[in-house]
Amino acid sequence: MKIKQSGIIGLGAYVPKKIVTNFDLEKIMDTSDEWIKTRTGIEERRFVEKGEATSDLAVEAAKRALKCANVSIEEIDMIIVATCTPDYQIPSTACVVQKKIGAINAAAMDLGAACSGFIYGLTVAKGLVGIGTYKKVMVIGAEVLSSILDMSDRNTAVLFGDGAAAAIVSEVEEGFGLLSTHLGADGDLKETLGIKSGGSLHGTTAATLEGKEHFLRMKGQEVFKFAVKALPTATLEALKLANLKSEDIDLIVPHQASRRIIEAASKKIEVPMEKFFLNLSKVGNTSAASIGIALDEALEKKLIKKGDIIAITGFGGGLTFGSIIMKWCY
Ligand code: COA
Repeated sequence: MKIKQSGIIGLGAYVPKKIVTNFDLEKIMDTSDEWIKTRTGIEERRFVEKGEATSDLAVEAAKRALKCANVSIEEIDMIIVATCTPDYQIPSTACVVQKKIGAINAAAMDLGAACSGFIYGLTVAKGLVGIGTYKKVMVIGAEVLSSILDMSDRNTAVLFGDGAAAAIVSEVEEGFGLLSTHLGADGDLKETLGIKSGGSLHGTTAATLEGKEHFLRMKGQEVFKFAVKALPTATLEALKLANLKSEDIDLIVPHQASRRIIEAASKKIEVPMEKFFLNLSKVGNTSAASIGIALDEALEKKLIKKGDIIAITGFGGGLTFGSIIMKWCY
């Protein structure tokens, strides 16, 4: 069987309107703009208003992606929503999106790979389109991380924001699209980033709520050590699979977690910082949405043109990591 070449034919992103600056955070927790900026590069992030859910952000991003790809919703035959902040445990957020957007011909599922979710989702889409199971797959990364932040925990709360991005993956001309993908995981580090209670192991009880175990917790330094290795490893492995070298990359769009992590990766991959696209100062870390939101902004700023070699690379809870090399299709 001949594997079809697949790629992103349209992209869209959406962030909620409410801006929360570091100065706003200074007012509610023991932190400072200076600390957050120097340690991470983040200056502000977006938070949803009450009642706005992950699916709402996902739908806005999806509509923009469909428009960009010039594809009708009826053509979508699979929706994958990568998220760690689903609307509900059941049903999947993908099913909620499917209903809200009227994707009557689409199957729908969620994917859990935390901040690597967009890369994992695109990899699944590449497989599904590649072997001809589906023609048009919508991959969405969407998060309302503000719903799992303990605003009294300065170690974690300052890093994250809300947002969504969507990509339409379809067959593309030979030589273009998703050239290679490298994914990985290290479950040994599962304790470094996560939510302790609310799952099947430790269900929610009055005691878990009292202990604030339903919020996201992070061992920042351990995640940092992992990330500075995982980002370069993933990118270099994906490059090798695509038969390309670091100098072939036109633009890298990394997971927007921390400027310091990205600077360390830049040295190891031997790609200068000028080739990394960063928008974390304005949106913070939006987990599964992060790479898509950044990619969309880079396109809007006309930093990407047809034929460019684009690397996307990320890491996240699990811990997971991954990278994709693309030859841009439009
Ligand atoms: N504001 C002010 N001070 C803070 C703070 C905040 N928001 N958060 C932590 N601190 C304090 C700590 O309490 C500590 O104080 P102490 O020395 O009195 O104990 C001090 O700052 C240094 O903390 P430390 O954890 O050593 O800082 P760091 O240099 O490791 O930076 C991170 C912390 C979180 C920015 C860094 O570890 C990091 O970027 N990790 C990766 C996180 C990440 O990318 N997560 C997303 C995964 S997808």
